[in-house]
Amino acid sequence: MSIQLTDEQLMIQSMVREFAREVIAPTAAERDKTKAFPAENLRQLGELGFMGMMVPPEYQGSGADTVSYVLALSEVAYACAATAVVMSVHNSIVCESILRYGSEEQKRKYLTRLATGEIIGAFALTEPHAGSDPVRQSTRAVRDGDHYVLNGTKRFITSAKNAGLIVVTAKTDEAARHKGISAFIVEQGAPGLTVGALEDKMGLRASDTADLIFEDCRVPVENLLGEEGLGFKISMTGLDGGRIGIAAQSLGVAKAAFDAAVGYTKEREQFGQLISKFQGLRFIIADMATEIEAARQLMFSAAAMKDRGENHTLQASMAKLFASEMVNRITAQALQLHGGYGFIREYPVERFYRDARVFTIYEGTSEIQRVVISNHILKDKRSP
Ligand code: CAA
Repeated sequence: MSIQLTDEQLMIQSMVREFAREVIAPTAAERDKTKAFPAENLRQLGELGFMGMMVPPEYQGSGADTVSYVLALSEVAYACAATAVVMSVHNSIVCESILRYGSEEQKRKYLTRLATGEIIGAFALTEPHAGSDPVRQSTRAVRDGDHYVLNGTKRFITSAKNAGLIVVTAKTDEAARHKGISAFIVEQGAPGLTVGALEDKMGLRASDTADLIFEDCRVPVENLLGEEGLGFKISMTGLDGGRIGIAAQSLGVAKAAFDAAVGYTKEREQFGQLISKFQGLRFIIADMATEIEAARQLMFSAAAMKDRGENHTLQASMAKLFASEMVNRITAQALQLHGGYGFIREYPVERFYRDARVFTIYEGTSEIQRVVISNHILKDKRSP
């Protein structure tokens, strides 16, 4: 074990591991086929305190640190990556943004319900023509008396259909570039808000992803998060934490694929011996284990920096970049080690391989992480 975990962190890890492996994992393959949203798992995760992990107890959360959170998230991802992404966006971006920037009234009204898992949170930044470059988003929010009127389309929104609340960004000042973007809390079912058709995805199939269409959607002024013009900063700060979460998801899926592959090589015989005896395969396993451990260290380092209140933008991007690329290599190798059996649905590795594919894309592509990292190092910011 790389860092010295506290008794409390170890207790949280063992509790969520038991729940994830006994309750969540057995139905993950079925969910991948049917695309059934894991509502019951998430409800139970809420009861156990995992849907408001870093929210203080005064707002019904668990008051845990980020290290505990990444331990929990990677255990859930080990069992079911689709359940983990819902937990990740909800905890890392939605709860943390409201905790950090919300008014006392917003925290009482919304954060408490998010933290218990009564409602699920979604985060809507991306648009059809603004993915890596969210500053150029075109959703507008125009003040009209006691309301803002939102118009625009958000794309690829995790939990779009099942969320009870969405943190959505929109331009309140066209001329002001990123400082013209604001964030709003919008309740599901608000008049003028429509959920588009669910995307048919390669992986994470049980997590719903869809457009959110705002047509003269009236949002009360008290649902502005922070101040006008703070929306981009809220999003970037939320994504710093979110990216540590994607590293945790990557680690969970990588470990699941690795365990499956190791188990398989110790059962499968060819040429008169277990395939685990072949040095060519033993070296692959050694490299896989080393890569997983390296990603784990980066994840813990970023999480610990966040817990110490230090700026962790660079470390979050490094952890996200390395871990998400790592899990794509690991799941491909795990599949290869299974031979033909890796290619059929009866074995879980093909699902791990498909689930991991989006990790180098969402919450900032690998290319965007390299922009963030190189800008920090060279300190001569260039446009992407
Ligand atoms: N924390 C706080 N503030 C930050 C910040 C951070 N990490 N990063 C940037 N900022 C601030 C800057 O300081 C600057 O503010 P000031 O002018 O006041 O100094 C402002 O934001 C603008 O910064 P930049 O000029 O650097 O912004 P940019 O337009 O060049 O973009 C970027 C920077 C890193 C490329 C950013 O646009 C980015 O991260 N793009 C990727 C978007 C992304 O990750 N989308 C994921 C969608 S959400 C998702 O996938 C969730 C899901 O459903 C799973």
